[in-house]
Order: sequence, then structure tokens, then C-alpha cells
Amino acid sequence: MKRKHILLSAVLFPAVMAFAQQYGGMWIPTELNEKEMKDLGMKISAKQIFDPSKPSIKDAVVQFNGGCTAEIISPQGLLLTNHHCGFGQIQQHSTVKNDYLSDGFWAKDMNGELPNPGVTVDFIADIKEVTAQVLAGTQNLDDKASQELIDKNIEAVKATFKLDPWQKVVVKPMYYGNKYYAYLIETYKDIRLVGAPPQSIGKFGSDTDNWVWPRHTGDFSMFRIYADKDNKPAEYSKDNIPYKPKYFLPVSIKDKQENDFTFVFGFPGRTTEYLPAIAVEKVMNETDPTMIAVREVALKTLDEKMRTDAETHLKYAAKYASVANYWKKWIGEVEGLKKSDAVGKKKAYEQMLITKNPKIKPTLEELNRLYTEQARFTLNKAFYSETVRNAETLTLANYFYNYLQAAEAGKMDAKTADNFKSRLAGIYQNYDGELDAKVTAKLLALYANKTQQQFLPAGFDQYKNENTNLSTIEKWSKNSVITGRGTLNGATTNSDIDKVFADQNALVKNLKSDPLMKLFTDFRQTYMKTTDAQFTDYQNQIDVLQKKYMAQQMETDKDRVFFPDANSTLRVTYGKVKGSEPRDAVSYGYQTHVAGIMEKYVPGDYEFDVPKKLIQLYNTKDYGIYKDKTGDVPVNFTATNHTTGGNSGSPALDANGNLIGLNFDRQWEGTMSDINFDPRFSRNIMVDTKYILFIIDKYADAKWLIKEMKIVK
Ligand code: ARG
Ligand code: GLU
Repeated sequence: MKRKHILLSAVLFPAVMAFAQQYGGMWIPTELNEKEMKDLGMKISAKQIFDPSKPSIKDAVVQFNGGCTAEIISPQGLLLTNHHCGFGQIQQHSTVKNDYLSDGFWAKDMNGELPNPGVTVDFIADIKEVTAQVLAGTQNLDDKASQELIDKNIEAVKATFKLDPWQKVVVKPMYYGNKYYAYLIETYKDIRLVGAPPQSIGKFGSDTDNWVWPRHTGDFSMFRIYADKDNKPAEYSKDNIPYKPKYFLPVSIKDKQENDFTFVFGFPGRTTEYLPAIAVEKVMNETDPTMIAVREVALKTLDEKMRTDAETHLKYAAKYASVANYWKKWIGEVEGLKKSDAVGKKKAYEQMLITKNPKIKPTLEELNRLYTEQARFTLNKAFYSETVRNAETLTLANYFYNYLQAAEAGKMDAKTADNFKSRLAGIYQNYDGELDAKVTAKLLALYANKTQQQFLPAGFDQYKNENTNLSTIEKWSKNSVITGRGTLNGATTNSDIDKVFADQNALVKNLKSDPLMKLFTDFRQTYMKTTDAQFTDYQNQIDVLQKKYMAQQMETDKDRVFFPDANSTLRVTYGKVKGSEPRDAVSYGYQTHVAGIMEKYVPGDYEFDVPKKLIQLYNTKDYGIYKDKTGDVPVNFTATNHTTGGNSGSPALDANGNLIGLNFDRQWEGTMSDINFDPRFSRNIMVDTKYILFIIDKYADAKWLIKEMKIVK
């Protein structure tokens, strides 16, 4: 039997070659499919990628500020990440006079680098599987007792590590709690901004091109890690020195070919690849469309004012981009799930599993029942959450609701109050009450018309008409402390938040008579009563069964190499540089060039303007060593790596472990890869290192940075 398998795979070599990545794959770096990676073209060893005791590539890959990924590209701790990952920092250093977002920023030397208090960089010093310790003694316990023991065991595991002050241990479940891994993390805190191109390069194409291929975005920015004199993490100090890394990535400017091996190393956030068909069906037909519908209304309403009013445009730009980002992603996801027949494939897979292992049948039947019964609560949870998120007047009301609760429970100390104040202030900064009254009016109408009767607060029928809503909300908003428009103690939350919060009793009394607060309280309490508790109760039962179903998939489908769903831990994904054929008669190449930027160029446009200097370089073809065989500079390229949110800023490496690209997005037609990877359509999008170096060298003339790097020609 064994022999036959081996022979078969030899015959089917090309098909088998794609096998481990057939379902995508975000692999734990201590458990790589070295053989397959080498078959696909990798020339280094798995040990060179991750070695806890010797310098290896993992020593150059960090989590940037808790969300994105970044990599070290010089012996002096120079960090590369996306422009959209460093956006907040670039924005923070910008003033009207020194507008680094519009004009870019390039430090002239190390003294010119800008500190960013609060920004962190996390290294993964080691990874240990700790399943046996964490699950010890839990076998015969009921679910609740088992979870309690697991929590205790995790604390015990953590206690076995001897930690330096800058280290911590995080234990994460994998495979729905069938396995556990401990991560030893080291955090650096003095991270300085080194350089960023102008938005017209770093965000070229903005929302229109977001998730879209062909793409032409120079989505990169640069930072530097600083350490104390012993190369250890330290709070910011001007006496700190550039961090000397254990390892840094050489940067390749070699030409790429289609089918070149490539791997991406980083911190993918969340995927759900092992759901049963029924769950995918619900996401595709119910939750995603509902969330899309809510955001569509919000975006359209904001856009109307943003287009005609420059001030609103500025105020809402980042917010709009963030709402639009997942709105667009979900649309792609739904289409992709349909197109890749995710549900059909999952159903067939479930039948195959049941044939091999009849014990799976009751698990799946029970999951089917639970997901079906949970569905209306899941849907309403999404509907409610998206409504509160996108109608910011309700977001604000939610904060004040929590404030009221805490105050009335006697839990309002100075620190808690400060917390509320600073979060609220953050929202007011970019909040336009009049504009948002429109959004809120429309979203309330949408909710009142579209949610099932059982979830509607009593009397909510009165909110079915958006025009009536608007006059009501506008009337209430004008006099409300919540919106920052009404006064208390002679001040608004917008003008002097401390003054409004100065007298807690007065504020509580004011809020309790505010009709906006009454509206929100009804909305929220009905939601909690009719939806939240029910949803959670089902979810707890589903979690237990998903764990079982995961284990059953793994023990039954022996041919498949499983990887755990993404959970913001360090992973490696691999594949090939490749274009795609996403639709009938549509064929995408794998690489774009500077000429394509000029094809998209719209002078003065907020998305597609091109900086003068770049046009000059294009006109004079001043490309230096950065052009490829076509004579043009490559800008972005695609590959079959399985990535998700959190992989932004991840290094894309070649067969020898040299940096060839900077991950920043996925192709729209393949974004269902979070649920159902399909090698036909799923592509990650990277900035070509040639373009990055071209911009640093020829555009910014920051040659001192190029000199720091190790360039592979
Ligand atoms: N779609 C990319 C990622 O999910 C880039 C987002 C930032 N860019 C933008 N235009 N909003 O998150
Ligand atoms: N832009 C995403 C991020 O910020 C990465 C793209 C994706 O979701 O694959 O992490």
C-alpha cells in the first residue's frame, strides 16, 4: 500500500507538487513542509528559516505595532513595512507646513529619524509546542471544568519560562484547541521613522485600486529599531543606539520569472478554513451581504459630502478608507466563495470524510443543526454591530451608555473617567455631527426595515422612514452632550470635555434625560436580550464541536497536510510567482511596471495623481540598475502565497531567502482565501523590491539607506 502511494505521487508529480498548498497554507515555522518547499524550488533549509539557537531568517521578521509585519534589512536595524502600516505615525509627524503624508519624509541621517512613543516591535525568540502540558488532566472533565483547568495549565506553562524584563510568553490554541503553542516574545520600544514616500506613491490608487490587480502602489515605509548600549530593548532615549540584529534580509534586485519559488513570513491575523459547508453558506448568503449593505449606505452618505467639501474629505479620509476596506473585501469574498463553489466543495468533502469515518456523521449533523439555529442570531449580531460601528452617533452613545452603567454601579474612578474621555475625544476629532445624523438616520431605517420583528425594540417601527429619522435625530443631536453639540456646565464635549465630565452627577442626570440615550438604550438592551445571549450560548456549543470536527478531519483525511487557522502568530506561506485567469477571457500578468502608473495618472486627482519627480524619472527613463529585462522598473507582482490581514508588511523571499517583495494586499477575486483558498484565483500582491529601492535611490535620493543594505544583484 505504502509503496503504491509513493509510485503514484511520482507519476502525478506536477499535480502533487501543488498539493500541500492546494488548500493554501500558513505554516508554523517550526513545522515546515521542507520537502515540498524544496520540490517547488527552495534552495535553503527549514533550519535557515527558523532556528531558535542560531541566527536565522525569523530573527529579521517582527510584528509591527501589534498588527502588521515588518522586516529588518540592514545590520543597523533598518525596518521595512507598508505605508499603510506606518500611516498613523507618518500622519502624527505631519503638520500643515511639513506635510509628510503629501510630500513624503526622508531623514537625512540617523539624527533626523523621528521617535514614535508607544510603537512596538515584537520578535519571536522561540516557539514550543505545549499541548501535553496544557491539556493534561482535562480528558474526562466537562467543558467548563476543562476550560478552567486549561487556563490554569497555561499559567503553569508560562511560569516555567525564565524571563528577562523585556520578554513575555503567550500561549495560543491551534486547531480549535487541539494543540497549544507557547511563544517567547521580545519587545523593542524605541522605533523611529526613517522614510516614507508621498501618499501619491505609497497609497497610489487608494480605495479605487484597493484589493485590485493590476496594481501600482509603492506601499512601503521605513523605520529603525533602537536599543540600549547592550543592544537590549529600552524606552526611547536619545542615547539609544541602532539595534544590531542577529540577522537581516539581503535585498534582491534580480529579475523575477513566472513560477519562481517564493515564501512569505509574517503574522496573519485570522482565517476560518475548517468550517462545515453550512457555516460558509451562512457567511456567503447572510452575514457578508448584510455587513456589505450597512457599509454601502454609510459610504455613500459620507462620499456625497466628502466629494464636495474639502474639509470633510480630510476629516473622514482615514475612516472612509477603513470602512471601505472590508466592505470591498467582503464583496470579493462572496463572489469568490460562489465562483470557487466553496459550499459545494465543502459538502463533497464532508461526504468523503463520512465515507471514510462514519463517526464524523453525528458531529456534522449536530454542527448543521447548531449553525442553522444560530444563524438568525449571527445575522442580527452582524447587523447590530455594523450599525453601531458605522453610525458614529450610536458609537458615541454606546460609550456614554457604558459610562452611565459604570457610574451608576459606583465604578467610576478618575482613571476610568479619563479613559472614557480620551477615547471619546479621539472620535470627536474626526466626527461631523450633522453628516453623521444622516448616516444614523439611514442606518436606523435600514435596521428597522430589514431586521426580523423578534429583534426589534418595542416601538421601533417609528424608525422605518429615513427622512423622519433625520429630522428626529437632527433635533435630538443638536441638544445632546453625546454628539458634542449640546452643552452641559457651559461646555460641549467638543470644546471642553473635562468641563462636561467635571460633575458626574450632573452628567448622569443629563444623559438619562437625553432622547438619544433613550433610543440607544432600547436598541442595545433589546439586542442583548434577544440576540447576544442566544448567539453566545450557541457559539459555546459550536466551539466544542468545531474542536472535535477539526480533530476528526485530521485523523480521517490522512493525505492532507493540515495547517492551523491564522491567529496572529508567526507563519510561513509559500508558492510561486504567478498571474491568473480570474474571469472568462481575462488574463492577468504577474508583474506591473512604472509605465502602468502613467497609464493610470490623473493630474490633481486624490487617488491617481503622480508626483512630478516620478514623472520626470519616467520621461527620462532614469531607472539605473532597477529596471528589469523589459527596460522598465517593476512595481507590483502577484504570487500564490496564502496571506491575510496582518500579513501587511510581510517579507516575500526567494529560493535563497533574499527579500524580493513586500506583501501588502490580495487580489479581489481571491479574497475568499480566508475561508476557502483557491489556487486558481487566490493571489497575494507585493511591492517589488526593485521599485522600493528605485524610489529610495532615484526618487528620494536617500542613498545613505541603500548603502546600509546588502543588495543582491
Ligand atoms: N487592502 C489592504 C489590506 O487589507 C490595504 C488596506 C489599506 N489601503 C487602503 N486603500 N485602504 O488591509
Ligand atoms: N492589507 C492587508 C493588511 O493590512 C493585507 C492584505 C490581506 O488581507 O491579505 O494586513
